[in-house]
Amino acid sequence: MLDGRRILLVISGGIAAYKSLELIRRLRERSAAVRCVVTANATQFVTPLALQTLSGEKVFQDTFSLTDEHEIGHITLARDCDLVVVAPATANLLAKMAAGLADDLASTALLVTDRPILAAPAMNFRMWGHPATQANLATLAGRGVRTVGPNAGPLAEGESGIGRMAEPGEIVAAVEGLLAAGPLQGVKALVTSGPTFEPIDPVRFIGNRSSGKQGHAIAVALARLGAEVTLISGPVRLPDPAGIRTIAVETAREMLGAALANLPVDVAVCAAAVADWTVSNASREKRKKEPGAPPPAIELAPNPDILATLSEQGSARPRLVVGFAAETEKVVEHARAKRERKGCDWIVANDVSPASGTFGGDFNSVHLISAAGTEDWPRIAKSDVAERLAWRIADFLKPGGHG
Ligand code: C5P
Repeated sequence: MLDGRRILLVISGGIAAYKSLELIRRLRERSAAVRCVVTANATQFVTPLALQTLSGEKVFQDTFSLTDEHEIGHITLARDCDLVVVAPATANLLAKMAAGLADDLASTALLVTDRPILAAPAMNFRMWGHPATQANLATLAGRGVRTVGPNAGPLAEGESGIGRMAEPGEIVAAVEGLLAAGPLQGVKALVTSGPTFEPIDPVRFIGNRSSGKQGHAIAVALARLGAEVTLISGPVRLPDPAGIRTIAVETAREMLGAALANLPVDVAVCAAAVADWTVSNASREKRKKEPGAPPPAIELAPNPDILATLSEQGSARPRLVVGFAAETEKVVEHARAKRERKGCDWIVANDVSPASGTFGGDFNSVHLISAAGTEDWPRIAKSDVAERLAWRIADFLKPGGHG
């Protein structure tokens, strides 16, 4: 099942570390290759010799060890695998991951990896329930980090509650779920997300309030189904999702350039809030306030339409081009017209009128508009819109599928 898949197993210092030996054994039984990185605390619970014996590979611990760096650099170590599994993931290591700390090899590897991450938390139930831990988990989930467990039951200190690390069998099942061929295996996807910033001068710009949350969530959802995703993102306050090639751009022109440079793809989802205009008289130097002079005039010129451009690429056109439309009235009617005008296949339309409660809320009412007609989706959490759309894309792209 896991034939030849390479797993980097990061083991941090909790009593559950003893279960990592069983985990390695089971992963290897399924023909996975396992390479271990241990924290200094983990070696108090499980010895590198035992890990090395079971994994059949050198165990890595010290970022500064010349031998380790000579044989394999820590960057390569962190990226040369199909999946990173953190088991056990202590409250401390999860906090370091959330904060982006890198003060040992394990945390450095987790910061530098571009592979998907699966964490199996294990800790005392009080630590698990602490708002700090829960906030860290929410941050990590937003970055695409998956978790398995923890389970409820007796804990090491004679107490009981939620905090037991998932059993090795459960972790192996989660690994198989993540590495199994998803319905979008072999599919290339392009997603645009976030706002664009159009410079007025070197220090000022015209931007918008798009957070990029929906676009990033779509990129993560597509990757979870196995797609090879390129995410082209305007300036956002979101981290690059794990396992997704993310290209940072600022302007609409840069976003278009990056999108065209990444063709061909099977599916393009344009979720970015692209500025309609660029500043045609942007100045190379910072504009000065001259005493008594009138404020400078800002001249605007239309930006290229990325969605429309991708839709007219001829033989390089993605098989499926999806756009978004936020409307405040006649939502479906306007979105249908937009679909025709831009030449895309689907439009995901939503009502952003104040009465809808969409702005600032966690729920969204969406309509999926295609050549086949209009589908009204029930009011669902915004995070579920991404997952549902990814499954619809998988349905469309499968042999014999249709939209
Ligand atoms: O025309 P409007 O901005 O309402 O269209 C929204 C859709 O078009 C979104 O999918 C957005 O990502 C895309 N778009 C684009 N390039 C533009 C403007 C909008 O890709 N310049």
